[in-house]
Amino acid sequence: MPHRENATLWAVSDLHAALPDNRVLVERMRPRSDADWLVVAGDCGELVHDVEWVLRRLSERYAKVLWTPGNHELWTPRQDPVRLRGVERYQHLVEMCRTLGVVTPEDPYPLWTGPGGPVTVAPLFLLYDYSFRVPQVSTKQQSLERAYETGVVCSDEFMLHPDPYPSRDAWCRDRVKETETRLAEADPALPLVLVNHYPLVRHPTRILRHPEFAQWCGTELTADWHTRFPVQTVVYGHLHIPRTTWYDGVRFEEVSVGYPREWRRPGHPAVGPRQILPVPA
Ligand SMILES: [Fe+2]
Ligand SMILES: [Fe+2]
Repeated sequence: MPHRENATLWAVSDLHAALPDNRVLVERMRPRSDADWLVVAGDCGELVHDVEWVLRRLSERYAKVLWTPGNHELWTPRQDPVRLRGVERYQHLVEMCRTLGVVTPEDPYPLWTGPGGPVTVAPLFLLYDYSFRVPQVSTKQQSLERAYETGVVCSDEFMLHPDPYPSRDAWCRDRVKETETRLAEADPALPLVLVNHYPLVRHPTRILRHPEFAQWCGTELTADWHTRFPVQTVVYGHLHIPRTTWYDGVRFEEVSVGYPREWRRPGHPAVGPRQILPVPA
């Protein structure tokens, strides 16, 4: 029988398991109690095989694992025997999660009843729509042109195919609409932990070294979700700048691990899962 009174809800993202040093981190990750849950907020890897390796390992150890895709899971890299693109690739990953018992954005949102609960934990898949544009431009096209001029272009442009949508932003708008409806239907008496690969607000991208990169980091369409819905904490990754911030009194946790050259930097926060619930003192 799991000991729920000692349980912790953890979150991590950007494990990038193609890198041998990051695989070692995954191998070392262990729950503290047999009732712990783990949220994995995207970028497990690029090859379906690597994503499955990460989620299988972790789901063998944690009482429940929740996953949402990052941009890297949605790439169709040349060396991946799985040639699926866009929505089909995402659905393939969702099916793989189901065989492992991992909760995805397509499943009912589970209720955390351990310490700090009850709280609904909602993994979201929202993507981005190029609305976090560079300054002084008014269209996606202009913003992208600026990125190409400066040479800061996300590999998604070549590897994240939106099929059957005409564009990544069209896919994003659909995901946002669908998710908004689901959140509006959730029990308003229960606080929410929202989990998305991208921050729901633009603020965290303000400290990116290359501001042009922000256009691949979220959407203005979710700017008020943390105040419109009963949100207790927002969990995200993608920026590879792990930290805790507060917007309008709501806690935002970037839980990314990132690349070894990033997490080995002096002064980098401890790598590994971050405690989400109970809220650390
Ligand atoms: Fe990442
Ligand atoms: Fe990412």
